[in-house]
Amino acid sequence: MISVQNLTHQLGQQTILNELSLIIPKGKVTALVGANGAGKSTLLSLIARLMKLQKGQIVIDNMSVGDTLSGGQRQRAYVAMTYAQNTDYMLLDEPLNNMDIAASRALMRVLRDLCEHHGRTIVIVLHDINYASAYTDNVVALAEGKIDQQGTPLDVVTSAFLQRIYGTAAKVHILDNRPFVQV
Ligand SMILES: Nc1ncnc2c1ncn2[C@@H]1O[C@H](COP(=O)(O)OP(=O)(O)OP(=O)(O)O)[C@@H](O)[C@H]1O
Ligand SMILES: [Mg+2]
Repeated sequence: MISVQNLTHQLGQQTILNELSLIIPKGKVTALVGANGAGKSTLLSLIARLMKLQKGQIVIDNMSVGDTLSGGQRQRAYVAMTYAQNTDYMLLDEPLNNMDIAASRALMRVLRDLCEHHGRTIVIVLHDINYASAYTDNVVALAEGKIDQQGTPLDVVTSAFLQRIYGTAAKVHILDNRPFVQV
């Protein structure tokens, strides 16, 4: 489990994260979603201790955390590396960027397998809500430096959610008990 309590992060005068609290469950795949600039990468970097904590607390039980990287090739290398290293927690920032559909599906399947059969806890920043819906257990939505909502894809991904978080009107269908956004 990752416990984030009252995390505040500022860049100059700008408040990026504002008294943010969050529990990320162990042994699950959690998607971090939200509009550009919402603070997803900042939150992930603070959890990975790549950035200095300014205010608040992050507690990760008993384990090692891999670094967070972005970029398709590097992400794939990273997944292979952490797999070999037995890292308990894997943090991935937009790993599907620049990946084609086959590579994207293959990576998401590997992540599910790492979670289900190797006990890994995975936190993944995703812009494609359909990948978050199809492959994750838990969706955390960030807005204005705080958690807007957290829950299963079915709980979180609704048309009201897309309107509120992204300001876009899109239909959401349910397919195989998973939400599916009509893009
Ligand atoms: N090095 C930096 N210098 C100035 N501003 C920054 C820097 N890094 C982040 N920010 C600002 O902090 C805010 C949050 O950035 P962050 O990268 O965490 O958002 P994000 O949710 O990951 O966005 P995206 O979806 O575009 O990757 C944004 O307003 C961004 O402009
Ligand atoms: Mg980012």
